Amino acid sequence: MGAGEGGGEMAAAAISLDGVRDKNVMQLKKFNTALFPVRYNDKYYADALASGDFTRLGPSRLLPALDLKEGGAICVYIMTLGVLAPYRGLGVGTKLLNHVLDLSHKQNIWEIYLHVQTNNDDAIAFYKKFGFEITDTIRNYYMNISPPDCYVLGKVIAQPHAKK
Ligand code: ACO
Repeated sequence: MGAGEGGGEMAAAAISLDGVRDKNVMQLKKFNTALFPVRYNDKYYADALASGDFTRLGPSRLLPALDLKEGGAICVYIMTLGVLAPYRGLGVGTKLLNHVLDLSHKQNIWEIYLHVQTNNDDAIAFYKKFGFEITDTIRNYYMNISPPDCYVLGKVIAQPHAKK
């Protein structure tokens, strides 16, 4: 589904989300320009292509990456998740986030986190609805945007298997 197709009244269930491939990576770049104040570098797009099923593209976009935390536990880091303005409030963001929560759970990845600009009330409300909590505040995290500060939002999605 392209960004300009369909109407604002469509149900989230009817929206298909593609994987990111060489052929639609330009669409991903256009979405990011429309959605986020931050400009992303070539590594970001290489990660998007390499992330397989985790990255989804529709009238919205989601880019999580696997990350290694202190102690060696693997967790999912959501680099970007966004829905074009005419499609917001329809459950598309929910569909994207549920996709990554389900996939993480299936892969026994039990922790998920992200950074969000401290003034992004909509995104903070969105993530809190799914049980994310603010775990940290980082001053001057962003360059060239105001405010430069971010919250770290985290959620434990399943307990790791206890070692015997
Ligand atoms: N105000 C308050 N609560 C909200 C809002 C809002 N504007 N938008 C969503 N929510 C909450 C509500 O609880 C909502 O449930 P409800 O409809 O039952 O009330 C719930 O989130 C789910 O809403 P969806 O319709 O699934 O969310 P949507 O498709 O609108 O996507 C998103 C939400 C992704 C935050 C969207 O507003 C967006 O793309 N914003 C711009 C890009 C952005 O800021 N992305 C996050 C940056 S951080 C990062 O990418 C890691």
